[in-house]
Amino acid sequence: MKTNVYQKIKLGSIEQYAKELIEISENKKVFILCDDNTKQCVNYLKNEISIFRDAETYAINSGEKFKTLKTSQEIWDFLITKKANRNDLLINVGGGLITDIGGFVASTYKRGIQFINIPTSLLAMVDASIGGKTGVNFNGIKNQIGLFSNPEIILCDSYFLESLPKEELLSGFAEVLKHGLIYKKEYWNYCTSLEIDKLDILKIINDSISIKTKIVTIDPDEKKERKLLNFGHTIGHAIESLLLKKKNQTLHGFAVAAGIIIESYISLELKYLKEEDFIEINKKITAIFPKITFLKSEISSLIELMKSDKKNNSDEINFTLIDEIGHGIVNQNINTAELKFILEKYVKSC
Ligand SMILES: NC(=O)c1ccc[n+]([C@@H]2O[C@H](COP(=O)([O-])OP(=O)(O)OC[C@H]3O[C@@H](n4cnc5c(N)ncnc54)[C@H](O)[C@@H]3O)[C@@H](O)[C@H]2O)c1
Repeated sequence: MKTNVYQKIKLGSIEQYAKELIEISENKKVFILCDDNTKQCVNYLKNEISIFRDAETYAINSGEKFKTLKTSQEIWDFLITKKANRNDLLINVGGGLITDIGGFVASTYKRGIQFINIPTSLLAMVDASIGGKTGVNFNGIKNQIGLFSNPEIILCDSYFLESLPKEELLSGFAEVLKHGLIYKKEYWNYCTSLEIDKLDILKIINDSISIKTKIVTIDPDEKKERKLLNFGHTIGHAIESLLLKKKNQTLHGFAVAAGIIIESYISLELKYLKEEDFIEINKKITAIFPKITFLKSEISSLIELMKSDKKNNSDEINFTLIDEIGHGIVNQNINTAELKFILEKYVKSC
């Protein structure tokens, strides 16, 4: 049976959903997971809603390098020390790192306890907190260990974005633009029509959630349609992992923005995408995001990283590409020799 993920997402002020929160947490011990920055969001919640007031809180260090099994172990230790049992509840308050690792920890602790996501970054609101993918990085590779597991509810309150640093807002915006490119040209047109701070952020959260939930509801297990959401990510994850290894970490969305440009270039080279569409994507994304480049000598390492990505076998890399702005195409297998050739051509053109 297909799950309607959308029914689980509540948009608006958290106070509005206090009743649901109280119902879900009835007869449960409530634990909160946050990071050192989103602790302030937890303080706000503790002031506003009773169930948060007495909840035990665990704050991890922020930063992708802490999205590990070691951190998961610390959280499991915390839950054990606080005598959390099968019936209890974990509330994840934070960006995509917290919803990913918190979902993973909750779903594996004593074979799974319930959890709630309260996303506090744009990226987590429009993407990471939705769709049930949870997990951690392992051996320097993104999201290698994890499972599909859905929260009881997702509460999206744009109030939290007020304290989000501008560059983190931009990082989330890369996923928003991806939604337009794979699914809806008018949405891409709207999102690139004005500077980000002049756009209607509530419309963006709403429209992106609607696109993501439509896709994951059709194909929750990523057999086909859900792969649309991987556009920009095959290259983006490889860039992110490469930079993580070089201790030159970048923001997830910035790597995805670079991945979107390069995967659009691949779409152009394979004659799926018209040149004018590629030029538009390249121009608009380059105007918004910091440029991330790599050297010709790093292409082999990038391809190795793509090969170790869970979606790929050894000779071919599975891509999601686009054949026009607003329409993605999945399951495009490209052999590694051809990919190397295209990436070298891309590096030369930069
Ligand atoms: N599960 C999925 O489907 C999915 C999809 C996309 C991305 N992701 C994952 O999400 C992560 C990226 O998400 P992210 O960009 O939210 O990263 P993040 O959770 O690391 O948050 C970014 C930074 O913003 C801070 N922050 C978050 N909310 C804040 C607020 N309201 N005020 C002040 N600071 C705040 C965090 O402490 C952190 O320093 C990556 O690990 C990525 O792999 C998962």
